[in-house]
Amino acid sequence: MSIEVPTADVKLNPLKTRPTVIAIDGTSASGKSTTSRQVARALGFVYVDTGAMYRTLAWHSLQQKVDVHDEKQVAALCRKWKTSLECADNEVHLLVNGYYPALEIRTAETSAAVPHVAAVPKVREWMKKKQRECIQFGNLVMEGRDIGTNVFPETDFKFYLDAALDERSKRRAAEGVQENLAARDQRDSQRAAAPLMIALGAKVINNSGMTVAQTSKMVLDEVQSRLAAALVQR
Ligand code: DC
Repeated sequence: MSIEVPTADVKLNPLKTRPTVIAIDGTSASGKSTTSRQVARALGFVYVDTGAMYRTLAWHSLQQKVDVHDEKQVAALCRKWKTSLECADNEVHLLVNGYYPALEIRTAETSAAVPHVAAVPKVREWMKKKQRECIQFGNLVMEGRDIGTNVFPETDFKFYLDAALDERSKRRAAEGVQENLAARDQRDSQRAAAPLMIALGAKVINNSGMTVAQTSKMVLDEVQSRLAAALVQR
């Protein structure tokens, strides 16, 4: 099945100051990844999946036999981690000894470990620094849970995606994943460090019943209108 990718005629960053960041946060299975990829492709931006960065650390912890329930062990591993960021095919990855564990980070074992790793405050500080370093690759579409609130709070382009719980559960089931999304949302929203929240000024899109192309178009239209408003104010 082919997906129609909306094209964009958006002249971002006309003053060529610093790279533009589009922050896309939201609940699990709200379509963040597919939408962010489409928006990045339409604009020629680099795509950053910050969930994959946390997953990579979770996988690395499991490989190193670090107890993911032990904050100190996880924080120490993170501190010692000689990692690097690579940008391949317009996507940024965090590497473990030069390797991107694309398949390994999606296993049930890694998925179960990642919320524990992502809740460690020292890990979140470390990730924020790495995520901000991604602007070395140019304009970004960055998806996650705390991008608009914590990682790039200064960006004017913030989005929060959500959809009805039963629809999100169906989307996950269609991917072959049975997951208690309500529990996951609760964990993401209630953790002390950088919880999932709607950023101030974020455009909230509830995409229940919408296609990915429709969601992407809403994001692109909003980017265009915010940009036009910013130019008028100058
Ligand atoms: O989006 P995902 O399912 O790949 O995210 C994996 C985990 O990482 C999930 O538990 C939420 C967490 N996460 C986070 O806490 N902050 C982010 N910016 C991205 C993901």
